[in-house]
Amino acid sequence: MQSAVPVTDSVYWVGVNDRRTSLFEAIWPLPKGVCYNSYLILDRKVALLDAVKEISLSGYLEKLRGILGPQGKIDCLIIHHLEPDHSGSVPVLREIFPQMKIVGNKRTAEFLGRLYGIKHGVEVVRDGDELELGGKKLKFLLTPMVHWPETMMSYEPADKILFSGDAFGGFGTLDGGIFDDTLDIAYFEDEILRYFSNIVGRYSPMVQKAMTRLKDLEVKIVAPTHGPIWRKRPERIIDLYDRWSRYEAERGVVIAYGSMYGNTERMAEAAAEGLSEQGLAAVRVHNVSRSHVSYIIRDVWRYKGLILGSPTYDTKIFPLMDSLLRLLETKMVKKRAVGILGSYGWAGGAVKAMTEFVKNNSLELVEPVVEVQFAPDAGELEQCRRLGRNVAGHIRESSG
Ligand code: FEO
Repeated sequence: MQSAVPVTDSVYWVGVNDRRTSLFEAIWPLPKGVCYNSYLILDRKVALLDAVKEISLSGYLEKLRGILGPQGKIDCLIIHHLEPDHSGSVPVLREIFPQMKIVGNKRTAEFLGRLYGIKHGVEVVRDGDELELGGKKLKFLLTPMVHWPETMMSYEPADKILFSGDAFGGFGTLDGGIFDDTLDIAYFEDEILRYFSNIVGRYSPMVQKAMTRLKDLEVKIVAPTHGPIWRKRPERIIDLYDRWSRYEAERGVVIAYGSMYGNTERMAEAAAEGLSEQGLAAVRVHNVSRSHVSYIIRDVWRYKGLILGSPTYDTKIFPLMDSLLRLLETKMVKKRAVGILGSYGWAGGAVKAMTEFVKNNSLELVEPVVEVQFAPDAGELEQCRRLGRNVAGHIRESSG
């Protein structure tokens, strides 16, 4: 078990690593686990900020006892976000610390009752309210839908810490270090983007609203409920989140394709050659039968261009490609230039359906749409290369 780690003189990280859960929300792979960050403020009052998933309870309690002592009390538990990865242990904490008040907003109180049957000992706070702890205090900022309706943040003005809930957090355990300057931060930035794009991205307009609330705050430490604590470059993660939630993207193209017998794959390869002919180095090719969709969605969020390739399967889109498109629709990704290519045997369907996907989601279609029967010939492969060149040209000219 790791020990509690001081973040400032009276704020401690008491989070836990989970290396046993393989799928977050039973969907998203966790190749390097996930961490549930929880914080303890030791002041005249003792405040616990967010808890952990039930599966991690024993290590968590050991850590709390290690810092509080066997008879130590917790005066209040602040719940910034009630999703069970942060609250699964709350019913047990309530039994162990029966005097502990739970602090949340109106929606938190409503959800606590429905989720855990907890209806008493809950203090409801509103936007802008402050909770005095002694030398420190917490000011609450309601930031609904970053990720659930009850999500909120709190700001501690003495240390200038923003306790941000899911915002700014990502997958991966904290292995030894817990801060942005003591970890391989490039790895975490990738995993924070995968978390953002798959879990929070749909709510980007609400993230933007939350970002406006932060503009007037001097933030020296960003303390999310997952991933590293940002103390060296808090402005870096705030800036990334701002860009991602404005759908701002980098110059690069994702090619996502499905292929049963290699024909659509050859078309995808030709499109990649076309991108390269235009000098584009950031090309990420995903076979939808091999890459987990969460990584494809992450890359789609990162880059300006997308080329989709699918054979026709039972008159429709190849099922794994269809699943990707449904998820992209759900995540409401915007502002991407999209090329389409595909093949069919005796009757088409996939190319038409993918083209409709682009139009229905207000994405920008780049010509030519390339559709071939069975296997592409030399002229059709050249059309795929032309599509690649056009997508590269398109994103070079686009701003943002
Ligand atoms: Fe980390 Fe939305 O829970």
